[in-house]
Amino acid sequence: MSRLVIVSNRVALPGESRAGGLAVALHAALEETGGMWFGWSGRIDPDRSGNVREQTEGDIRYVTLDLSQQDHDHYYNGFANRTLWPLLHFRVDLADYNRETYAGYRRVNALFAEKLAPLLRDNDLVWIHDYHLIPLAVLLREHGVRCKLGFFLHVPMPSSDLLAALPQHGRLFEGLSAHDLVGFQTGRDLERFQDYVRLFGRGRVIESGVLETGGGRLLHAGAFPISIDTGHIAHLASQSVGKASVKRLADSLSGRSLAIGVDRLDYSKGLPERFRAFERYLERHPGQLGRMTYLQIAPVSRGDVAEYRVLRNELERLAGHINGAHADPDWTPMRYVNRNYPHASLTGFYRLARVGLVTPLRDGMNLVAKEFVAAQDPDDPGVLVLSTFAGAARELEGALIVNPYDLDGVADAIAQAMDMPLAERRERWQGMMSHLQRHDIAAWRRSYLKALRAA
Ligand code: F6P
Repeated sequence: MSRLVIVSNRVALPGESRAGGLAVALHAALEETGGMWFGWSGRIDPDRSGNVREQTEGDIRYVTLDLSQQDHDHYYNGFANRTLWPLLHFRVDLADYNRETYAGYRRVNALFAEKLAPLLRDNDLVWIHDYHLIPLAVLLREHGVRCKLGFFLHVPMPSSDLLAALPQHGRLFEGLSAHDLVGFQTGRDLERFQDYVRLFGRGRVIESGVLETGGGRLLHAGAFPISIDTGHIAHLASQSVGKASVKRLADSLSGRSLAIGVDRLDYSKGLPERFRAFERYLERHPGQLGRMTYLQIAPVSRGDVAEYRVLRNELERLAGHINGAHADPDWTPMRYVNRNYPHASLTGFYRLARVGLVTPLRDGMNLVAKEFVAAQDPDDPGVLVLSTFAGAARELEGALIVNPYDLDGVADAIAQAMDMPLAERRERWQGMMSHLQRHDIAAWRRSYLKALRAA
């Protein structure tokens, strides 16, 4: 059996609870198979990059690197999160093009390759994750690595005309062809990648999923929608009823319904639009006033990046405005919390909620949507309000699918969810839950690794 080696920028070290779907999903995948997880330690070494740390828990060996302040600023805060992140989320207006940060991005990828290459064996399956590490495969090949290399993009693949706005797009995306398999979240992402290869990459699509790249190399590509550990989430949620944090939340609602949103504090998540849509709901549906409390949990993310700080200020202002304008002495319409909560509490919060609000402007998949569904009480399930621009909307057909830019539409969907009869809630939920039982995290890992072995 070949060993699984996962490489990602973010690593969920034992005992850490990380916001974001990638860490949760990869941890679940490695727990099943064992193997090695290689990435950034999450630490800054003031002196230099490249200090290696190792620890083992169960069958998982964690090998992580510290980064210097400058490398972290240029690679993570800079090129990854101020250039690639906005571009890949269709926000060409927010993308910052800077040769210095691009050099830092390449430097850190080269460091990953230098430290990882000696640890690899020829029959390993190496699975590289996300936009931080697009050039890594080329660099590993330059170090003589011969094993199978796969890549998975957790975020959306944008339209090729947008990608072409990146000065380095040719070199960067040509580098993907050093992999044996490139995976995307949805069929639409795969199509947009194929368009890019055809229109800007000087390559051709031999058949869907089999490409010849500009450099003449054969590359396999496919859609592999990421998922959750459905059974585990459902179990956690059913056990959470007695948890103190969940009880406190339930008691604090004084019999009112709960609407919940849980998102990293990120402009791709459409939070200002969601807050405004909630206000619109209060205005358009006066008959429901006072019947619901909206809890938004938004752990701070990438707080050193200017755009994220601006967003945080805007959300604080909006939450204050909405409560100021609509609260009663005994009812606050919305609660806005910047803390991160352990999964065991979050799943309990989801189960309490009548409405789950997942309304990103763009999202590769969005695992909160899937977790919300898996956490529901089968006898009395809540309703998911889901953006059509989340990858999850391609699968979760029982959700109320909304356009997050259409505030009236989101407002009306919240009201519809509040008044939805139990029979309809159950029917919608059952369809989604049985899909998630068949398409869980183990199925995702298996189907990707099977395709990688075959590529
Ligand atoms: O899922 C997309 C993603 O960017 C992951 O790559 C990342 O680990 C996660 O979101 C959370 O972001 P960050 O690691 O920057 O906190």
